[in-house]
Amino acid sequence: MSLLIDTDPGCDDALAVLLALESDLDLVGFTTIAGNSSVENTTRNTLSLLDFLDSNLPVACGADRPLVKRQDTAEFIHGEGGLKGGLPTPTREPVDLSGAEFIVQQARENGNLTIAAIGPLTNLALALGIEPDLPEYLDEVFVMGGAVRAPGNRTPAAEANLHADPDAASRVLQSLSPTFVGLGVTMQATIDPHTLNLSGPRGEIVEQWLEYYPDRIKKRYEIDHSPIHDAAVITGLTDGVLTTEERTLAIDTSEGPCRGALVADEYGVTEEPENGRVATDIDVERFRAAMREAIEAVV
Ligand code: BDR
Ligand code: CA
Repeated sequence: MSLLIDTDPGCDDALAVLLALESDLDLVGFTTIAGNSSVENTTRNTLSLLDFLDSNLPVACGADRPLVKRQDTAEFIHGEGGLKGGLPTPTREPVDLSGAEFIVQQARENGNLTIAAIGPLTNLALALGIEPDLPEYLDEVFVMGGAVRAPGNRTPAAEANLHADPDAASRVLQSLSPTFVGLGVTMQATIDPHTLNLSGPRGEIVEQWLEYYPDRIKKRYEIDHSPIHDAAVITGLTDGVLTTEERTLAIDTSEGPCRGALVADEYGVTEEPENGRVATDIDVERFRAAMREAIEAVV
């Protein structure tokens, strides 16, 4: 499977990228997006992360703000600059295309590309604006986003990635019928770092990514370990840990308390055709085994 990852590292993004690079997936590159921090920071973090993981794959710098909304970041969770662990300044620059242009270029060249979008969906929406035939060049689109069968984490109704750019998310839903891997499953995607062999300076960095939720936030959700939301998407691709089902879906783009919420018609009450998929279950033990194997291979 040829895969492009659209990302906003982000500690759980960093672990998702690590997993993808340790897998058999044919990675074509990365696009970055403003989300957990500014796009300057998420681009720098992606390049530093690839240095850390010995990868030369291309990185394209994406949108610096949502289509309509004001930009919002989550450095209070992921650390100053958007990524804990203190990686050094990157040794290279992003490619000379915008994130949206890179998505279009790779999709056209590949003809059957899969996309894992683990940040706000602005780049994908902009790519649809550049190339209306984009759906024909894509195989599947997986999104970490939404809070189906779960409360929101950015507002009571909305998950952070969809809340960050609901207008882009709605555009992507309409054109690309994605699979949403949301908080209903990703909140279960935790791993106790003490069950891993994390010795040495590289191990210390990875441990900071695994334990990125501040205690105050863990207390809020009554959890002992941080959910590695974005890595759940990748283990769905590599290890089949996710169960997904078709649903009739909508994203609330109105102003109000449900802005950015992913609404799934669980009982089919609308009698409208299904237009996407949602993850409904995760095999947590297989998720942990996949994480352990990938992490212990790089530390
Ligand atoms: C999502 O929001 C970001 O903070 C994480 O990286 C993840 O993609 C979880 O709601
Ligand atoms: Ca993310």
